[in-house]
Amino acid sequence: MKTIFKTIFLFVITAGFLTSCGGPTKNESNRGAISGSAAEKVYVAPGEHDSHYAFLSGGFSGQLAVYGLPSGRLFRVIPVFSQDPEKAYGYSEETKPMLMTSHGFIPWGDSHHPDISQTKGSVDGRWVFINENNTPRIARISLETFETEEIIEIPNSAGNHSSSFVTENSEYVVAGTRFAVPFPQRDMSIKDMKGNFSGALSFLKIDQETGHMNIAFQIKMPGFNYDLSHPGRGKSHGWFFFSTYNTEEANTLLEVNASQNDKDYIAAINWKKIEEYVANGGGKKVPARYAHNIWNDDAHTAVHKMVKEVLVVEPKDVPGAIFFLPTAKSPHGCDVDPTGEYIIGNGKLAAQMTIHSFTKLQKAIADKAFDGDKYGIPVIKFDAVNYGTLDQPGLGPLHTEFDTRGNGYTTFFISSEVVKWNIKDLKVIDRHPVYYSVGHLMIPGGNSQTPDDKYLVAMNKITKDRYLPTGPEVCQSAQLFDISGDKMELLLDFPTIGEPHYAAGIAADKIAPKSKKIFRLDENTHPYAVKNEGETKVVRKGKEVHIYMSMIRSHFSPDNIEGVKVGDKVFFHVTNLEQDYDVPHGISMIGANTSELLIMPGRTTTFTWEPKEVGVWPFYCTDFCSALHQEMQGYIRVSPSNSNIKITYTLDDEIPGTDDL
Ligand code: CUA
Repeated sequence: MKTIFKTIFLFVITAGFLTSCGGPTKNESNRGAISGSAAEKVYVAPGEHDSHYAFLSGGFSGQLAVYGLPSGRLFRVIPVFSQDPEKAYGYSEETKPMLMTSHGFIPWGDSHHPDISQTKGSVDGRWVFINENNTPRIARISLETFETEEIIEIPNSAGNHSSSFVTENSEYVVAGTRFAVPFPQRDMSIKDMKGNFSGALSFLKIDQETGHMNIAFQIKMPGFNYDLSHPGRGKSHGWFFFSTYNTEEANTLLEVNASQNDKDYIAAINWKKIEEYVANGGGKKVPARYAHNIWNDDAHTAVHKMVKEVLVVEPKDVPGAIFFLPTAKSPHGCDVDPTGEYIIGNGKLAAQMTIHSFTKLQKAIADKAFDGDKYGIPVIKFDAVNYGTLDQPGLGPLHTEFDTRGNGYTTFFISSEVVKWNIKDLKVIDRHPVYYSVGHLMIPGGNSQTPDDKYLVAMNKITKDRYLPTGPEVCQSAQLFDISGDKMELLLDFPTIGEPHYAAGIAADKIAPKSKKIFRLDENTHPYAVKNEGETKVVRKGKEVHIYMSMIRSHFSPDNIEGVKVGDKVFFHVTNLEQDYDVPHGISMIGANTSELLIMPGRTTTFTWEPKEVGVWPFYCTDFCSALHQEMQGYIRVSPSNSNIKITYTLDDEIPGTDDL
């Protein structure tokens, strides 16, 4: 045990030494080989648009950031798994249900892998999906509104990492557990993990009309760690591939104990076969508790519900559907090339990349070329499925994406570089340093049959001297490469939100033309919506006061309210009556224990306020909406809890709706 520990320690130290030695030093140029034309290639003139959208996950920020390529300009941070006061997400009464889980309201998440929906093997710009690791969930974001529309929790799962990748017609989005756990959860000794924990691989069916997700089935796999995954495509459509580590099933000091086996596996899942088995009544419904939260764009409100059961499939019940492919030591990335023929596993501790062949896999299954089994799942003989290995291409291979010309681009964390290699010949063509310690990389449409292979974005964990320092915490970053030529050309560094863990990219013309501009007021079905100022009012219901308020340039209706008492709970239900593009209004109330609301045209949103003291308290518009934005304000009079003052409300000293307002 001690010796093994030393060996690994030495490996890491050596690797680190090589990096600091081999990498560029500060006095050398760490700008890479930037040519004069790089600036031209990323310059998007004022008023011009970028050619691509890039969606970069926020990692530990829990959000999803939208950038333009090639400029690297940040357009929007879409709140997904974390509260965002700027957008009132997770603060407004309407969005709070989005963050409900089986553990109650959770204000934060760890978002990792966005993936864009596909039609016929190409990204189609309908939705982007993203996973949450910590409290396992998958979210779906509309690419018309750029808002989170749905979040579903994944039961029997933990550290939901091998997620959220989409099949080539968006039939399914998958979620795979990183941590093996008791399935179902129960009180047991951690030491008894081996053979008693399981790994859930969940297949979520996507409704093609609404986008709604439902867990179609969960495969109860052996208790390994399922790290990353990708769908088959083209010839391998119908299959899904998951990399595994800790096939040792160790429960302590994994850096040593999960690095014992020379090879771990890629799990190959024939989901079409399992789908058929389930359609014929296969699987078993078992009790579970998980949240399913859906946003409704007409009611402008999310609905949270708990689901009580899940369909579980045991691998032994579907023979011929699941196989293990031996793959070099603790593989991380598990990537499939655009043709669907090559499945690439990057052995992060092996300095070796394993390239499997789908054609060989089919033959190996037909020939039963097995090397025994693991928990009843056949292990394919390595030589029977392996197309070849790329040996010593760099240190710490992590992830691979592809162009349309038969090349793979792989990131190397330890040696801080991107390596371009030809898949058929297994030859390295080009390598380029990145600054520094690159994790994922992204080529727009990279997880599809039709990569849009002009740009490559490398996402780096360490930036050190790349930007002006900002104290101990510095930003992580992305680097943009032009990959249209034989050699990769570094064009641009840009800072990112949180950890830019992974990204998805798409040509702008697949999204921009259908981007929503306003919500139509006549379609607003929110129960507290008002369609004009005449409908605005204030209603007391016991200790609750409901304000049906409107906003339009540049006033609120009503703007003077009396009769509120200390101890009341005041609901501001606020409708933005504007029907023009880019005219939101905001509202905030002094002392409210929540965020402001930023309300888009045609939308109704609610926040609550519990006044603690008597007085006359102002509220105002938080968004600079017009020349008279500063005049957009109002007052609420708060009286003692035992006062007899009746509710009154006015605008320009009249009750709204009683004259020609
Ligand atoms: Cu409305 Cu500022």
